[in-house]
Amino acid sequence: MILPIYAYGHPVLKQVAVDMDRNYPDLAGLIANMWETMNNAEGVGLAAPQVGLSIRLFIMDSTQTVDKEKEVGIKRVFINAHKIDEAGESSAYEEGCLSIPKIYGEVERPATLRLRWVDENFEPQEESFSGTNARVIQHEYDHIDGVLFVEYLKPVKKHMIRRKLEEIRKGKVGVDYKMKFVR
Ligand code: NI
Repeated sequence: MILPIYAYGHPVLKQVAVDMDRNYPDLAGLIANMWETMNNAEGVGLAAPQVGLSIRLFIMDSTQTVDKEKEVGIKRVFINAHKIDEAGESSAYEEGCLSIPKIYGEVERPATLRLRWVDENFEPQEESFSGTNARVIQHEYDHIDGVLFVEYLKPVKKHMIRRKLEEIRKGKVGVDYKMKFVR
């Protein structure tokens, strides 16, 4: 089932999400719906707050995005992710977000991160990520901490997009996937 994606301006996107337990009702169904929602909107990642749930769950699939000559794409479910460490030289990369349609901007992030999480079977995992995988995970991880990529943009760029953000908040944006606006 395709879920509505919550748009910029909804308070759930600014909440720090909480850890989940394995008895969460129909977790497998929720994850399946999130994959369907992400793929329908042609995203590379989707976090639970973007479908209105303030829980530490996100999914990502970089297999179609990475430069296959240089990197290996991954498709993963991250539950109860917590950052252990971020390291390496920061670089800028143009990001976008399904909750903030038609706005793109360069965000600086460290090259690598190390995470601890549980997978969809609640098996504990710990791994380091770099390249495109790190970038996608850092963006999705921010969602479960209530942070949006536009908050990192330079002041000039922030000023440039201010009006567009207000229009998204009010629902005045054309998108070809289902969204939920605050209005
Ligand atoms: Ni996003």
